[in-house]
Amino acid sequence: MSKSITILGIESSCDDTSAAIIKDGKILANIVANQSIHKLYGGVVPELASRAHQQNIIPVVAMAIKQAGIDKKELDAIAFTRGPGLMGSLLVGTSFSKAFALGLNIPLIEINHMQGHILAHFIEEDQPKPTFPFLCLTVSGGHTQIVLVNDFFEMQILGETIDDAAGEAFDKAAKIMGLPYPGGPLIDKYAKEGDPKAFKFTKPQIAELNFSFSGLKTGFMNFINNESAKNINFVTENRNDICASIQATIIDILLSKLKMAAKQCNITQIAIAGGVSANSELRKQLNSLKEELDWHVFIPKFEYCTDNAAMIAITGYHKFLKNDFCNQAAVPLARYELNAKTNEF
Ligand code: KG4
Ligand code: ZN
Repeated sequence: MSKSITILGIESSCDDTSAAIIKDGKILANIVANQSIHKLYGGVVPELASRAHQQNIIPVVAMAIKQAGIDKKELDAIAFTRGPGLMGSLLVGTSFSKAFALGLNIPLIEINHMQGHILAHFIEEDQPKPTFPFLCLTVSGGHTQIVLVNDFFEMQILGETIDDAAGEAFDKAAKIMGLPYPGGPLIDKYAKEGDPKAFKFTKPQIAELNFSFSGLKTGFMNFINNESAKNINFVTENRNDICASIQATIIDILLSKLKMAAKQCNITQIAIAGGVSANSELRKQLNSLKEELDWHVFIPKFEYCTDNAAMIAITGYHKFLKNDFCNQAAVPLARYELNAKTNEF
């Protein structure tokens, strides 16, 4: 049998510090430290995020190694998120990974965060994996894309948002309602008790497979302001119905484009990825399309939806198999296209 491969993954692109260890595609540890400091500010404060990463990174990595029950000398490579993300946050994970790889004398692997979200589907667990080619709806706080995935590292963006991301739409709607950051999970929670047809919001008319959420945000803000002017308690009295209605609108926008893409490409292998794929109603509706449209639907385990290093480690594992390493000169990229050539430093 060939030698096994053990990869340490490091994720620090936004406000979660995470380290994971994968051995031959199987997760041994996946530790995520969230940064609660941002709740006070209603959004991620980049300067505070990078400071918190600096504090968290060593304990998080130490915990991952301990939980995996391995010695650091058993690591074969370190895979780190190079971008896209907040520069100050990326710098912490990148610098840590370089130093640790240098100290252990093992190779470095640079990872595109958005590829990581998609390849989270290939973590070896007891669930079916999509077969190539498949479509992936990648919905996070910074991105909304429909991606045609032809192979592990052959991905084509078929459509994307021209303004806000779907996660941003959730978070901004929550902020307008006075809910803390990140609002997506709270809208999900309150929507469970609400009527999705209680309020109607205008959906954008955007060409082809692209998305737009900024008009919906403005419409939602005007609606809340107008209703609150008539009844100061409007939001508190109708919280669950408002959450269910705005959530239903966002999901409708996402799924109508996904259905269009599936039809155009004649593909029935459909996956979702990114933080918003943790949304319970989106997961439910996608599952119901299995029968309706004969789709094979792939939904990541909850902990692999939002930012985590397991997805970075599994992507690193597949790059390791291709001998795709980077050198110590690699710098983080705040903007990093899904298909960018990675041999430029
Ligand atoms: O992928 P992610 O963890 O970080 C980025 O790369 O952006 O995504 C974070 C986004 C946030 O906007 C958050 O509100 C949203 O995912 N999110 C959700 C849910 N859980 C996280 N949105 C709706 N429903 C959820 N259950
Ligand atoms: Zn993400």
